[in-house]
Amino acid sequence: MKLSTLALIASSLIASSNAADTTSSSTVVERTQSIIEPSASEIAVSAASAKTLQWTSDIKGKKFDRFVVIWLENTDFDQAAEQPDMAWVASHGITLTNYWAVTHPSEPNYMSSVGGDYFALDDDRFTSLPKNVSTLADLLDDKGISFGSYQEHLPYTGFTGFNYSNQETFANDYVRKHNPFILYESYTSNATRLSVMKNFTEFEKDLKDEKLPQYMIITPNMTNDAHDTNIKVAGKWTRDFVTPLLENEYFMNNTLVLITFDENETYAEQNTVFSILLGGVIDDELKGTTDSTFYDHYSQIASAEVNWDLYNLGRNDVTANIWKSLADAEGLTNKDVDTKFMVNNETYHGYLFDEKIALPAPNISATNIAGKGILPAISSVWADEYSSQVKENYFTSTTTLVSLESTLENGASKFAEETTTASGSGSKSGSNTITSTSKTESTSASVTTNSGSELPSGSHNGAAGLSPIAGAGALAIAAALLI
Ligand SMILES: *[C@@H]1O[C@H](CO)[C@@H](O)[C@H](O)[C@H]1NC(C)=O
Ligand SMILES: *[C@@H]1O[C@H](CO)[C@@H](O)[C@H](O)[C@H]1NC(C)=O
Ligand SMILES: *[C@@H]1O[C@H](CO)[C@@H](O)[C@H](O)[C@H]1NC(C)=O
Ligand SMILES: *[C@@H]1O[C@H](CO)[C@@H](O)[C@H](O)[C@H]1NC(C)=O
Ligand SMILES: *[C@@H]1O[C@H](CO)[C@@H](O)[C@H](O)[C@H]1NC(C)=O
Ligand SMILES: *[C@@H]1O[C@H](CO)[C@@H](O)[C@H](O)[C@H]1NC(C)=O
Ligand SMILES: *[C@@H]1O[C@H](CO)[C@@H](O)[C@H](O)[C@H]1NC(C)=O
Ligand SMILES: *[C@@H]1O[C@H](CO)[C@@H](O)[C@H](O)[C@H]1NC(C)=O
Ligand SMILES: *[C@@H]1O[C@H](CO)[C@@H](O)[C@H](O)[C@H]1NC(C)=O
Repeated sequence: MKLSTLALIASSLIASSNAADTTSSSTVVERTQSIIEPSASEIAVSAASAKTLQWTSDIKGKKFDRFVVIWLENTDFDQAAEQPDMAWVASHGITLTNYWAVTHPSEPNYMSSVGGDYFALDDDRFTSLPKNVSTLADLLDDKGISFGSYQEHLPYTGFTGFNYSNQETFANDYVRKHNPFILYESYTSNATRLSVMKNFTEFEKDLKDEKLPQYMIITPNMTNDAHDTNIKVAGKWTRDFVTPLLENEYFMNNTLVLITFDENETYAEQNTVFSILLGGVIDDELKGTTDSTFYDHYSQIASAEVNWDLYNLGRNDVTANIWKSLADAEGLTNKDVDTKFMVNNETYHGYLFDEKIALPAPNISATNIAGKGILPAISSVWADEYSSQVKENYFTSTTTLVSLESTLENGASKFAEETTTASGSGSKSGSNTITSTSKTESTSASVTTNSGSELPSGSHNGAAGLSPIAGAGALAIAAALLI
């Protein structure tokens, strides 16, 4: 860790804080969990009794009736954009030039896309969120919207183990860290939900039988997604995978497909990723264009909420932007987000990072971009905890942003310049999301807030969960920026 200006400010804050100083001096111990890693023979036994369910439904959405997200891995924007097969795919849809991953490495990014937070996970370990943490599955369920997941080479439907390698070469094949819903016990403790967690063989079957769910997550294996290979392999895989689908009337009917990378490859760079929207709902005249609206993985949840009039999760979904075409159709206005100093390349100080920090409560009074409130079932579980976290002056900490202006006095101006250039180029639609903020103001806001209400403008921090370090808001936010 670098000793920066922030470190100095932070240490003076820590020194002058009246709160019990638990975070700065004691060693941080990560919350851990034992790995479920069955052997091949145990897997074969379980496979024999695994239940697979075909689940479909037909609930009309405001802009699309089906949403599909296809996840690829660890590639910088430019490299993906330049790859010829990927460029071919992009020519059939809209390239999102301002889509952000929320942190590094992989697992927290996948986690964020269905739960609205990554709970301070900073690695790819075997971990999960307890049963009282809800996900998008609960929101969809509430409206009877079918969902499911297709994970390439998942050995059997509902497999919850850490990995399933190629049984001849033992190269990485299926990995749990790239499977969003499996990271939540509210999902895995439900047998019905496990029975719609399937592999690609089942995808082909459901496609042929016209029994696909309305919300689906697709994860290719570690070869095809570029993780263990390169963008050429992933580009070819993607093109091969979507080509027949683009011609499949059943699949594409009122369908929106998001192809996205989980994170950028270069940790020191801004964590924007190459993403494409395509599918039957994309107007012909928009094919081959770009959209520079600010999006992040939370936009996946927020867009589903607005599209199907769902309740929210009370986490970062409530402040997220939604797909432009949906916002336009509904007369909603996405936020311009100041990304000048945003990097999203580190975790914050919270629940999974530090076992002393309790699970953050969702914000039970937050409304999403469409004005919809939290799912009543979530509110009834969390209302008391939320008010006690608020009353004790706990702070809003689900910082998905590490503000460069706070951490890197010197690097900042160079960085801002680069960002402005990158974001200004190639956009045919949407507005320039760069707005100027005073460096000094924003820095002091990051460090001195203890209510969660003065976080840097444009960040996602404001509306999400709370983390409990009683009476030590400033201290903890400073710590968050120091790890
Ligand atoms: C990711 O890394 C690239 C370097 O290739 C950098 O230009 C960019 O700012 C970062 N974010 C994106 C767009 O991938
Ligand atoms: C996919 O899942 C099915 C259902 O559990 C299983 O029978 C099959 O062996 C799996 N296929 C692959 C390629 O892993
Ligand atoms: C999981 O990965 C480990 C390490 O690569 C490997 O030894 C093990 O065989 C894999 N498990 C399965 C079931 O493929
Ligand atoms: C990943 O899947 C592809 C088929 O889509 C297969 O050719 C490749 O061998 C798989 N990777 C591993 C490591 O098994
Ligand atoms: C289990 O999941 C199914 C499908 O999501 C849902 O309909 C059901 O209510 C869930 N059951 C419980 C006890 O949460
Ligand atoms: C497309 O969807 C509409 C309504 O959702 C349905 O009436 C129509 O039959 C579908 N067409 C195809 C080809 O599946
Ligand atoms: C995050 O990005 C900043 C700015 O480039 C860099 O100084 C820092 O080391 C990065 N953090 C990690 C964990 O790579
Ligand atoms: C919860 O959301 C409400 C409504 O958006 C907001 O006024 C309040 O500040 C949020 N609470 C916290 C602690 O962030
Ligand atoms: C949520 O579950 C965790 C783990 O079981 C528990 O520690 C926590 O008190 C629960 N919180 C609420 C509000 O139910």
